[in-house]
Formats: sequence, structure tokens, C-alpha cells
Amino acid sequence: MKNENDQKKTSYKCDKCCDTGWMLIPQENRQPLAVSCECRKIEKLKSEWKYSGINVEHSNSTFSNFKIWNEASERAKDTAVAYYNDFDEARNGRRNSILFCGQVGSGKTHLSVALALNFLKQKIKVVYMPYRDVITKVKQNMIDEEYYSRTISKYQLCEVLLIDDLFKGKINESDINIIFEIINYRYLNYLPIIISSEFSVDRLLFFDEGIGSRIYEMCKDYVVEIEKDTRNNYRLK
Ligand SMILES: Nc1ncnc2c1ncn2[C@@H]1O[C@H](COP(=O)(O)OP(=O)(O)OP(=O)(O)O)[C@@H](O)[C@H]1O
Ligand SMILES: [Mg+2]
Ligand SMILES: [Zn+2]
Repeated sequence: MKNENDQKKTSYKCDKCCDTGWMLIPQENRQPLAVSCECRKIEKLKSEWKYSGINVEHSNSTFSNFKIWNEASERAKDTAVAYYNDFDEARNGRRNSILFCGQVGSGKTHLSVALALNFLKQKIKVVYMPYRDVITKVKQNMIDEEYYSRTISKYQLCEVLLIDDLFKGKINESDINIIFEIINYRYLNYLPIIISSEFSVDRLLFFDEGIGSRIYEMCKDYVVEIEKDTRNNYRLK
């Protein structure tokens, strides 16, 4: 008998609800109460992540997994948390965005994704844009006008946009034009952006002043610039 039970148990993904999505809570003198099982929420969250483009490898990038191990990481986390707490108030204003820039491996993507995951939990729809991949794909499909406008408008219109690794790789005029279309639209319409980039604010301004200064204006209250110093690289810790 015991063995049979054990076998049954292992064949469900969720033991609590036996994969029905519902749990029955016994009630005194009444019918048991059916409540939605936790696993449903997790499944739902997973499908929201999928829409947002955030994948499973990112799921460990949370605030609680982010260690304060030096001054730079402390400042970065404090700014990210402040942005998160201020978001409701700041989101429709001029300075409604956050920039993590500088040193490679310093946790810029980690904190950007942690913000995105927290926003998703609050039903704020974040779309993840891995800069290099998206730009490459858009350029490969330049003649397909429909693909081009569908892709660009996805990043222009979404509630919150996360641009990961802005300006990574060689950049030319068409990269600048594509990213300008996205950033300028969001700038004009007061739509928040979370940006990570290995370049300093000065370098971003140097690449393209139009883009750089819009980013700076939008992120002014939440700029995390991590000094280029391998001692700030968590991967080498
Ligand atoms: N303070 C930290 N606590 C825990 N893990 C960290 C911390 N900083 C970075 N990491 C981890 O180190 C790895 C590198 O961090 P991340 O990818 O966020 O760096 P990055 O600044 O985006 O680097 P790159 O410029 O190469 O994109 C990741 O696995 C991340 O989860
Ligand atoms: Mg990164
Ligand atoms: Zn369940």
C-alpha cells in the first residue's frame, strides 16, 4: 500500500494539488473550500516571463541573490531598490528610467533582471531586449517591412523596456538609427526603460549625443555607473 502511494506521489508535478491546480481546504460544517494552488501561480509567472523574453537562466537574478560584496555593489543595489520603490510615482515623469553602466561582470544584468522580475510579479509588463541579438536580427530582416515595424513597435510600445547590453559589439549608423527610433519614441511618450551597458555615460554620449542625452535625462535620478576596475567584476571574485 505504502509503495503504491509513493509511486503515485512521484508521478505528479505538484503533490499539493495532484496537478489539478486546486486544493481543497476542509471547512467546519461546510463544503470544503477550493483554492487555487501555488503551482498555478508559478506556471502563470513562467508564461509571463516567456512573453517578456526573460528566460530560465535569468530566474536566479533576484535582489535577494545579489550580494553586497564591495562599495560598487552596495550602491548599485541601493539605487535599484530605490527605483523599484519610487516606480509608481516616477513612472510617468521625465526621470522614470534607470541606467546600469560600466564594468563588465559587475551585476548590471543581474539587477536589471531582478527589477524586471519584480515588476512582472506586480503585473507590470516588462519586455526584455537583448540588444545585440535584436539589432542583428532586425538588420537581417531589413527588407521585410512588416517584420521591421512589428519588432520595433514591440520595443517602442511595451510598458517597461529592458535593454540589455546597449551598444555591445561594433556599431554603425543603422544600429544608431534603430535604437534611436526606439528610445526617442519612449522618451516622447514618457515610457520607462531599464538599461544595462558596459559603456560609461560619457561614452554613450560620444556614440550618439541624441541617444545618450535622452538616456541621461530619463535616467538622471537612477544612474549606476560602476568604475572600470576588474576588482568590481563578480565573475573574477
Ligand atoms: N553582487 C552579486 N551577487 C551575486 N551574484 C552576482 C553579483 N554580481 C554579479 N553576480 C553574478 O555574476 C554574473 C555576472 O553578472 P552580470 O551578468 O549581471 O554582469 P554584467 O555587469 O551584466 O556583465 P556584462 O557587462 O558582461 O554583461 C552573473 O551570474 C550574476 O548573477
Ligand atoms: Mg550584462
Ligand atoms: Zn499544485
